[in-house]
Amino acid sequence: MVSVTLNAPISGGASASRNGSAASSEKGPDIEEGGAVRPPHATADYSAAQPGIDSYRKRKMTMVLHRILDEWVTREHLDLDSVETDVDEKVEDKGHEELDAASLREHEEFTKVKNIATIELGRYEIETWYFSPFPPEYNDCNKLYFCEFCLNFMKRKEQLQRHMRKCDLKHPPGDEIYRDTTLSMFEVDGKKNRVYGQNLCYLAKLFLDHKTLYYDVDLFLFYVLCECDDRGCHMVGYFSKEKHSEESYNLACILTLPPYQRKGYGKFLIAFSYELSKKENKVGTPERPLSDLGLLSYRGYWTRVLLDILKKHKGNISIKELSDMTAIKAEDILSTLQTLELIQYRKGQHVICADPKVLDRHLKAAGRGGLDVDVCKLIWTPYKEQT
Ligand code: ACO
Ligand code: ZN
Repeated sequence: MVSVTLNAPISGGASASRNGSAASSEKGPDIEEGGAVRPPHATADYSAAQPGIDSYRKRKMTMVLHRILDEWVTREHLDLDSVETDVDEKVEDKGHEELDAASLREHEEFTKVKNIATIELGRYEIETWYFSPFPPEYNDCNKLYFCEFCLNFMKRKEQLQRHMRKCDLKHPPGDEIYRDTTLSMFEVDGKKNRVYGQNLCYLAKLFLDHKTLYYDVDLFLFYVLCECDDRGCHMVGYFSKEKHSEESYNLACILTLPPYQRKGYGKFLIAFSYELSKKENKVGTPERPLSDLGLLSYRGYWTRVLLDILKKHKGNISIKELSDMTAIKAEDILSTLQTLELIQYRKGQHVICADPKVLDRHLKAAGRGGLDVDVCKLIWTPYKEQT
């Protein structure tokens, strides 16, 4: 099947206004002063650190595939095996030139209206932020009730109560790969737990503005962070990761559920994604575009990690060395250091100029921020396709 996550904007302009306009009828996150300078909802222009951006044509194709998949979503029952062929045929039929602005606008009109206002998940009632393409029988629902363990969703509280009496899950399906006192991380293979993966995507889309994929979960692993107590493991947030990424993405989508936000879990999830990359001996970068909150969190993480190393390091260090040590992609290192004004361009080369006083000033401003990943507690081997 096809991946339909929208690619990053070529110049930053087009995608930013797409998402910006869609936001007007939705609430979205509040970003405090001193945080992002962009209007809420606009997708961050992150062209400085964009990984190999696909061609314009491929981007248009991706959008159309997304539109087509959404049409299927509204038709409800997908024949999962036939999707790829159907997509190809439809794209052929339409002709590339007809991947037009009008149909994209139509799609945007449909998806800009927030459909589900609130959800109940575990002990929280959560106000949603964005549209999510739940199957049509949920069109008339203002509120949905999620089982916090299997993530099945229901229209009525009584249905959920009945479900909870039967549901025997007390944590996400899959392997627990990390445990640190009450915090656990589970790895869920989208292929082995397809319904769970799809439910998670429906749920996540309620808080993610940029386009995501709903049915093609086979190609993804989901890393679900939980706070555990005697009632079970309660989902705090997650990130998804392609099993194989040609663009060296080490994270596709990241979410901390609103009740748990601003407590350091986002930073933990980001750090975790880089720890996995280190174990794979790869450098990684998050899939673009990043949301404002995503960019803020990544910037914070990159800044702290790089400043910590520069502070301790004696003598020269190159961006390549920093990248090898941190698994952060060189472009992201460069853009972060440029933002911190720690880079000079001399004789055709970028040179890191880390004056100790400047480093101290930045470190003080960066603060410490919550939870660290204790790598000793990570028990994990990189994904290998089973034959
Ligand atoms: N206003 C200002 N700053 C904020 C806000 C806010 N509302 N929320 C988080 N931050 C800052 C924090 O201060 C912190 O910065 P610091 O480390 O420099 O102090 C940083 O962002 C991370 O904070 P955490 O508490 O670690 O992150 P959190 O658990 O809140 O999760 C996340 C961050 C995952 C981006 C969350 O806001 C979220 O789920 N947002 C909705 C979904 C989303 O936008 N995901 C990213 C899309 S991009 C992608 O998926 C590749
Ligand atoms: Zn359940």
